[in-house]
Amino acid sequence: MTLNTAPLQTLRADFHDLTLDEALVALRQRFDGRIAFSTSLGLEDQVITDAIFRNGLDIDVFTLDTGRNFKETYDTLDATRKKYGQAIKTYYPQTLAIEHYVTIKGINAIYESVENRKECCTIRKIEPLNRALQGAQVWITGLRAAQSSFRADMGLFERDEQRDLVKFNPLLNATSEQLWGYVRKYDIPYNQLHGQGFPSIGCAPCTRAIAQGEDERAGRWWWESHNQECGLHDGTRNPLKKAA
Ligand code: ADX
Ligand code: SF4
Repeated sequence: MTLNTAPLQTLRADFHDLTLDEALVALRQRFDGRIAFSTSLGLEDQVITDAIFRNGLDIDVFTLDTGRNFKETYDTLDATRKKYGQAIKTYYPQTLAIEHYVTIKGINAIYESVENRKECCTIRKIEPLNRALQGAQVWITGLRAAQSSFRADMGLFERDEQRDLVKFNPLLNATSEQLWGYVRKYDIPYNQLHGQGFPSIGCAPCTRAIAQGEDERAGRWWWESHNQECGLHDGTRNPLKKAA
């Protein structure tokens, strides 16, 4: 199925009232091409991974190992592999690009300018993401509207123009309480940093714990005044604005 026969409005309406499990099963039935799910091993993504594996769905689960993740994130990856006995394909940055960047600019150049930081995200995350999504018809993410004002504007389904695919955000309207409910119900492994003030977890040098009352994403690239996105989701435009 292509978006020509299933406009975003129809998809959003058809999936609006489904549970997570129902939505993932319906998605697999609706599209006949490759469906890929990107997991950062964060709470939202753990809930989606559990639903995919528990329902035995033909959906590729992959993660981007930037080389700068927290130990706790690797522990979560390992615990997840062991619990479900399923492969989580891991993508790495291109060695030559990293070697060049670090040799010329330095390992901590990310703190020196937004340009340097974005270049690091491009090498470590965006290029591997583009490789991981090659040939995919649908990209599933764990984005939630409550995470930030940028994300509040997203829809359940979107079109990623740059990558020419449909993006599905099944937990768009989920609350953090609902996520923890899933974790308890299905005994889902989760990143231990969530219990230490990290609702949002990215690379170790670019994530800090937040204080009570701060926005969920305040600990991401905290030294930059206006940047709380790394560019992974920049290809997505929401032509309909929020309708889901
Ligand atoms: S980010 O853009 O700021 O890094 P965030 O950590 O909130 O994103 O995660 C949002 C979604 O982006 C995740 O649910 C996941 O689908 C995807 N994502 C982010 N980081 C990774 C990663 N390292 N590997 C795979 N997917 C990721
Ligand atoms: Fe590099 Fe930080 Fe981006 Fe990770 S989040 S890829 S360490 S700049």
